Amino acid sequence: MRESILVLDFGGQYNQLIARRVRECGVYCEVHPYTMTVEEMKEMNPKGIILTGGPNSVYDPASPHGSPEIFELGIPVLGICYGSQLMAWTLGGKVATAPVSEYGKTEVTVDSKKGLLKKVSDTTVTWMSHTDYIETVPEGFQITAHTPVCPVAAMENAEKKLYGLQFHPEVTHSEQGMEMLSEFVYGPCGCKGDWKMDSFVDESIRKIRQKVGNGKVLCALSGGVDSSVAAVLMSKAVGKQLTCVFVDHGLLRKNEGDEVEAVFGPAGDYDLNFIRVNAQQRFYDKLAGVTEPEQKRKIIGEEFIRVFEEEAKKIGAVDFLVQGTIYPDVIESGLGKSAVIKSHHNVGGLPDYVDFKEIIEPLRMLFKDEVRKAGLELGIPEYLVYRQPFPGPGLGVRIVGEVTAEKVKMVQDADAIYREEIANAGLDREINQYFAALTNMRSVGVMGDFRTYDYAVALRAVTTSDFMTAESARLPWDVIEKVTSRIVNEVEHVNRVLYDCTGKPPGTIEFE
Ligand code: XMP
Repeated sequence: MRESILVLDFGGQYNQLIARRVRECGVYCEVHPYTMTVEEMKEMNPKGIILTGGPNSVYDPASPHGSPEIFELGIPVLGICYGSQLMAWTLGGKVATAPVSEYGKTEVTVDSKKGLLKKVSDTTVTWMSHTDYIETVPEGFQITAHTPVCPVAAMENAEKKLYGLQFHPEVTHSEQGMEMLSEFVYGPCGCKGDWKMDSFVDESIRKIRQKVGNGKVLCALSGGVDSSVAAVLMSKAVGKQLTCVFVDHGLLRKNEGDEVEAVFGPAGDYDLNFIRVNAQQRFYDKLAGVTEPEQKRKIIGEEFIRVFEEEAKKIGAVDFLVQGTIYPDVIESGLGKSAVIKSHHNVGGLPDYVDFKEIIEPLRMLFKDEVRKAGLELGIPEYLVYRQPFPGPGLGVRIVGEVTAEKVKMVQDADAIYREEIANAGLDREINQYFAALTNMRSVGVMGDFRTYDYAVALRAVTTSDFMTAESARLPWDVIEKVTSRIVNEVEHVNRVLYDCTGKPPGTIEFE
């Protein structure tokens, strides 16, 4: 049986990050609610258990306490933040409200270089976020680190292989956090490190086959990274039992429809039923005369669902619907209730009345960069795997004002030039998102000896880590100059190019 680490979720913010860090150490890891029974844990047979942080106070009777037997199973346990307080409190130590809360980067003094702190320097910067603290440790425990205001920053009972850290080793601000997690996994847990992304792929394929049996599977494929990786994984698992529906709404980037078809269609590498629905005109008709951004988004979203639904009806009842949900899309309720799932489809949710029995989300535990690794492992071309984000309503929100087929062509051509030049300048992996948008502004220019009265294209490029906030990228001027000159010369009806210097906030990344 493959070695694994079990993370028990007590409602903290960084729980999936803990799992991800363990996987980075080369050990398979799963997050389960704290309500998991001891029998279920024994069945999983983990090499170690990690108790996460959480917003509660252990001494409050209403707080989640899990099973006290966890500490008697003979399996090494690491408690992080609330998890360490829970360990102390359950085993007879004292937890109280700290006179001073600690939040943010905090220097910890190591008292005893052993256990998880074996390879850590005498003082080390960690990430703290707590209002309660451990006042006294349970019998058999030793304090191994402290801060000026937190007497127990780390504790251990080496004999029972129980460890507590008040700070969050999983957060990058904890400078030696990875060393500590790795020490837990390879030290007391005795893991060998048998997990790689290819194990994830093989394991997923095995599980999917087991679940699907002879059932029929339907997948809405957008051509984006997540749905592409999910589709290929499913296809490797169940082949022709899978049907992928790709709706071309006429608001895709230049050649994108054909590129998606080339990879997933009959001439591509995958053995799946691929349906491309060319619904361009249908979308343009619905969008005619509409200028209000939210109304445009709604129309595109609804029409998408109608098209998908019509195709699903033609296929008939399916057993499973695949969604490319990845971890950041999963809103964890945190306290062990089943996670609330954001309907992941790019445009705006799937119809309630598509007839299927169960949803499969094969990427649910992965972060974006892990999805990309899985994609490469599955042999998906790099240009697809490293695609930048693209909004579900597509160019519909990059054309300010009314959408027409002519405007789509303008923005597609301008955007293709921009992307090409960014790639030529070697900036394509550096800038997190960049695209051309078509403003609704026409202005006067001169070309040759003639007056022009044409549209202005806006270039957008942002650097961001989470897409919630962003900065306008400082593109080299010669790149902007080249792109401008090419767009004005090569794209009909565009005579002006503007660079968008707005950050987010106050702007958003997309124009609408
Ligand atoms: P904004 O414009 O809100 O965009 O700053 C933030 C990020 O989200 C992307 N985006 C979308 N993605 N469906 C999506 O899947 C949408 O409707 C949508 N709208 C914006 C946007 O490209 C950026 O990466």
